[in-house]
Amino acid sequence: MGIPVTLSYIDGEGRSHLAPGASAARPGALDIIDQTLLPGEQKRLSLTTPEAVFEAIKQLRVRGAPAIGCSAAIGLAVCAERFASSSPEEHLERIKACAAYLDSSRPTAVNLSWALKRCVGAVTARDIPGMNQQLLDEALAITAEDIRLCAAIGEAGASLLAPGMGVLTHCNAGALATAGMGTALAPIYAAMEKGVQVKVFSDETRPLLQGARLTAWELSTAGVDVTTICDSMAARVMAEGRVDLVIVGADRVAANGDTANKIGTYSLAIAAKYHHVPFFVALPFSTIDKTLASGAEIPIEERNLSEIFHCSDAKVYNPAFDVTPRELITGFITERGILTEI
Ligand code: MRU
Repeated sequence: MGIPVTLSYIDGEGRSHLAPGASAARPGALDIIDQTLLPGEQKRLSLTTPEAVFEAIKQLRVRGAPAIGCSAAIGLAVCAERFASSSPEEHLERIKACAAYLDSSRPTAVNLSWALKRCVGAVTARDIPGMNQQLLDEALAITAEDIRLCAAIGEAGASLLAPGMGVLTHCNAGALATAGMGTALAPIYAAMEKGVQVKVFSDETRPLLQGARLTAWELSTAGVDVTTICDSMAARVMAEGRVDLVIVGADRVAANGDTANKIGTYSLAIAAKYHHVPFFVALPFSTIDKTLASGAEIPIEERNLSEIFHCSDAKVYNPAFDVTPRELITGFITERGILTEI
């Protein structure tokens, strides 16, 4: 597809690992492409400390729910390899503290805490090298799984697409947001592999422009027909009859199907309902948080006010996500197929 690898474990000899099994020279590093520089510059970062991994997630150098889960998992393994613990008990305490610290980097995407909990839960060894091996194996298992889940989501979602259809998407839920081919963009790639080309409208996604910078770049690099529009143009493009389907990703889905995703998704769903355009959410099951009854309980990240252009005297409000009520969602494209109930 021509898309760079979003994240991987780079071992001590510079080999990239995305799945467990291969022998890795220690200590390694979390390797990511710095998404804050895209599309202008393709720079890779090699992260080895809790502070560096935290900063990369917080500042959206790596972003997108599945990608931050995989990165935090690999990051935890990388950091643990460098702890100078004097006993296995101390090592386990350090691992838990590091996981809690990384988990506090962003609140909304549940994949972050899901992946970190899974990694800490995988540590059963009683010796430090064994613990480190288990952490790395689990992190790479989560990453390999994400690659498979994205492909399955793509396969399920491709059945909704026909040649020439107009598909609107918001933010970036593509390869750059996962270890694999993405969630919302996976059906587009899977359809393309079957010879079905669609026309994608990519919302620019204010304020950080993940749509204009990342989705437009990722899709055009892959040879997909993509048109960038301002967020405020989506209803107009629907009214023109140019959108057959909306597909977005998700950061956390509550038990009742309410879906948190990038700010602007909710108004897009309202516009889609008004124009009778089917509105689909693509996600792996790891994005579902059954502990929350409804979207009202989903923590919504508020980001730095400097991200929004404003006059010096004006107040600014910057929630990074909103919640789309279940009733506005036509269906969920998952690794288990297209579902109306989750
Ligand atoms: O703030 P971001 O860029 O991390 O927000 C990303 C999104 O909202 C994505 O749509 C979501 O995480 C799904 S990614 C497959």
